[in-house]
Amino acid sequence: MFKRTLVTTALPYANGPVHIGHLAGVYVPADIYVRYLRLKGREVLFVGGSDEHGVPVTIRARKEGITTQQVVDRYHELIKSSFERFGISFDVYSRTTSAIHHQFASDYFRKLYENGKFIEQTTEQFYDPETGHFLTDRNIRGECPHCHAAGAYGDQCEKCGSTLSPEELINPYNAETGNALVKKPTSHWYLPLDQYQEWLEKWILEGHKEWRPNVYGQCKSWLDGGLCPRAVTRDLDWGIPVPVEGAEGKVLYVWFDAPIGYISNTKELCDAQPERWGKWETWWKDETTRLIHFIGKDNIVFHCIVFPAMLKADGSYILPDNVPSNEFLNLEGDKISTSRNWAVWLNEYLDDFPGKQDVLRYVLTANAPETKDNDFTWADFQARNNNELVAIYGNFVNRALVLTNKYFEGKIPESSDFTEYDRQTIDEFKNVKTQLESLLEEFRFRDALKEAMNLARIGNKYLADTEPWKLAKTDMARTATILNLSLQIAANLSIAFEPFLPFSSAKLRNMLGLKDVDWNALGSLDLLPAGAQLGEISLLFEKIDDAPIQNQLDRLARIKKENEEAAKQAELANWKPQAIKTPVSIEDFDKLDIRVATVLDCQPVKKSERLLQFKLSDGTGERTILSGIAQSYPDPSVLIGKQVLFIANFPPRKMMGIESQGMILSAVDADGKLVVTTTSRTVHDGVSVG
Ligand code: MF3
Ligand code: ZN
Repeated sequence: MFKRTLVTTALPYANGPVHIGHLAGVYVPADIYVRYLRLKGREVLFVGGSDEHGVPVTIRARKEGITTQQVVDRYHELIKSSFERFGISFDVYSRTTSAIHHQFASDYFRKLYENGKFIEQTTEQFYDPETGHFLTDRNIRGECPHCHAAGAYGDQCEKCGSTLSPEELINPYNAETGNALVKKPTSHWYLPLDQYQEWLEKWILEGHKEWRPNVYGQCKSWLDGGLCPRAVTRDLDWGIPVPVEGAEGKVLYVWFDAPIGYISNTKELCDAQPERWGKWETWWKDETTRLIHFIGKDNIVFHCIVFPAMLKADGSYILPDNVPSNEFLNLEGDKISTSRNWAVWLNEYLDDFPGKQDVLRYVLTANAPETKDNDFTWADFQARNNNELVAIYGNFVNRALVLTNKYFEGKIPESSDFTEYDRQTIDEFKNVKTQLESLLEEFRFRDALKEAMNLARIGNKYLADTEPWKLAKTDMARTATILNLSLQIAANLSIAFEPFLPFSSAKLRNMLGLKDVDWNALGSLDLLPAGAQLGEISLLFEKIDDAPIQNQLDRLARIKKENEEAAKQAELANWKPQAIKTPVSIEDFDKLDIRVATVLDCQPVKKSERLLQFKLSDGTGERTILSGIAQSYPDPSVLIGKQVLFIANFPPRKMMGIESQGMILSAVDADGKLVVTTTSRTVHDGVSVG
């Protein structure tokens, strides 16, 4: 059986602050789990750290005009301190640029290398002859082979969403320099995942059917597709140098070194405090350790397939027992994105909502994307605070405390005989501990929180039904019983909510005069001795009004606008004319009768989203032409009086019951909208163009 639990959380890239997507997907559930295990008295170690290698940090550095080291220093500190302020209770939070990690990852690679666990392969990679660098997929851009958008990335086209490989791009170029790229052979080390296929199938598909369906399903589809060797080195100048002779200019692939960070961070902690944590090997090599990786869904393949294969290749490590992975959290209907600044950043939240860590912890758990993508909205945030935390939990606790102050001078009153209703209420608490535990053990944090909230509801209802403020006039003994029971319920709440809302639980315990949390006492209605003095009381939760919420919405609206503007600019900058069509003869051209006309009237065609109806003066009289450019002219009257070009000798045709007598010439503008080409000086209507 397991004797201890090692919990890891995906190491966030130090290329920006952490945001609510990271929190909901990984850190909040992991923290709840770890706090729960600690409360249960289990031995547990909680590992985090920053992922400081890889391409994203180098891109950020170039964007900000600072060194890569400065980028990772800045964000590592910011991330680490934000986690602390938010109450993510890591036992160790280190970084992959640490000396210990460099040494450890380097040794890890060398051992596999010396034991022949890698294969070496030479492939042709894109190379910028001017800078002398090989390029990673993200740094290569070119035309999308599918939608022909300019500026698609080597791994993905953001316009049409297709996944790409750099080979597929048309005219690939260096995203930084714009230089055209050539192919050049380079050799790398690969972990032959195909050799682990059978073993992985047994271990996961047969051995871990209990994993979440999203995790199991992704593994199965990777395995069904057949695994191929994966490169574990890169041509880059940021990372851990490949510790092999003749590998100059090569570093370990970030996804090779980062998960090793879980081990090296454990080692860093154990080496520093061996009396508290023992040997790092106990946490990583002893079969009685249960290893749990908390990750987001984009990390599944690395944690369930690649990293286990690396551990297996070494041969001396344990494997993860479970990999609880969440789906994604969106923000106000849009995908969260660091590069587009579409996020709620933890450090900003902590500054904007001081003392409200638990509100965000609550909302992110209540709305956790455990089984499907979910959406974070500020309206929901406000509603959950005001209608749940304040109106139910806070209201109940506050009433119980205030009434005790009022009628019993802040001393826990003595309870006497219970009524039938009291007993029913007490009964509801009987199974709370078992229920919460079974949900938490299964990583069902959302349901567990609901269960805890349900207790607050029961308490709130109990007070509302028994109305001690009325009874106090006539029956002090009954009032005492009711308040005693209410305070016992509040004490239970402080325990039940402890893993989820640690700040509020501590505050509540102070008010109740409870010293420490005894998880095993959960469900007992004998937690507070009669006669004991309450602490100083204040509101457990406070209402959030509209102004701060509106501030957040305004900020997002501003960002959305900036992004749209930036996308437009990028499109303009990337615009390239289409290739010229095959030549036509002058005779062919002459067949087109292109003329100038003045717009006499222009109206949208009823029931058509596309069509505008033009009335033109064409020099000989009036003519009606329909043109499919309504989307570009919300107010078509702006065209009245303008002169336009049209083809006069198109055979008339009927659309929406109206006859169109020709075609107006339009061009696509920078917004992708069709606009009429107008003349700049007045000429005679009917004049031929040619
Ligand atoms: N930095 C990666 C990401 O944000 C996660 C790394 S997890 C580790 O997607 F296992 F590699 F550390
Ligand atoms: Zn595309």
